[in-house]
Amino acid sequence: MWELEKIIQTPTPLIRLCSDWIEAAGVQLWVKRDDLTHPDIMGNKWRKWQGHLAQMQAAGLRQFVTFGGAHSNHIWASSALGRAMGFEMKAFIRGDELNAQSSPTLRFAYQNGMALDFVSRSAYRNKVALAATLDTSWYVVPEGGSGPQAWEGMAGVVHEVETLIKPDAYVCALGTGGSAIGLAKHTTVPVFGVPVLKGMPWAALFSEAEVGIEVWDGFQEGGYGKRSEDLLVWMKQFTDQFGFTLDSIYTAKAFRALEFHIRQGYFKPNSQIVFLHSGGLTGDYTG
Ligand SMILES: Cc1ncc(COP(=O)(O)O)c(C=O)c1O
Repeated sequence: MWELEKIIQTPTPLIRLCSDWIEAAGVQLWVKRDDLTHPDIMGNKWRKWQGHLAQMQAAGLRQFVTFGGAHSNHIWASSALGRAMGFEMKAFIRGDELNAQSSPTLRFAYQNGMALDFVSRSAYRNKVALAATLDTSWYVVPEGGSGPQAWEGMAGVVHEVETLIKPDAYVCALGTGGSAIGLAKHTTVPVFGVPVLKGMPWAALFSEAEVGIEVWDGFQEGGYGKRSEDLLVWMKQFTDQFGFTLDSIYTAKAFRALEFHIRQGYFKPNSQIVFLHSGGLTGDYTG
């Protein structure tokens, strides 16, 4: 469909983790390595973009505008994708005190040719008004790449997993909720989501999207983007033991929630649990 698909690695590997606490619970724990789709367009970003790309193609559009903060994985991935596609691109960035050098993410986006428009936090809240300053030749990608178009791409995850195993549960991080909704729309097995933000109206959001997702709340570990010493030590041990890395904002916290539940005997013996590695490693780059 798109030339871009040639540089994206799918299907991504589904790997099985072995450890004493997994064996003690008698479950099988799998990780869907969507962090391996592409070094810059990784994880749920590629899955979510597919629906948006299809809409842009159908409408014959070659420019997009989107939204994000200084450390947004979505801004990082979108700028790489836009560059690979030769799109014109623009982003409204939260914080009028910032500039293109304020974070590795903004630097990367700027170098990829994304025009950055820094807006105050109050102006940022009204994204409809911001988008309305542009003409209709600009395709609008919601913050985080989410929205109904984004759900479609998650079908790929379900398809790739369920041609290999019969899972009993999926577990993933919740930011806007788009990835979990996309999974739940395409599978018949339960989806568990771990919020990284506090105070989101999950019940209303999921009922509006007509999905049932069980929320494991209380694993934010100090709040969004907070990296405690304990978390960083745990992440290093995880990498030493399993040979790959989780990101500190989304997947490490979600995995810790899953480990907690497995250790508590939450899942029946022989359950096959799939954890979605939704990427995010670009958010931890400091260079
Ligand atoms: C790496 C990573 N994992 C998970 C999420 C959460 O995904 P969603 O916003 O679809 O809930 C995000 C944010 O979009 C993310 O960047």
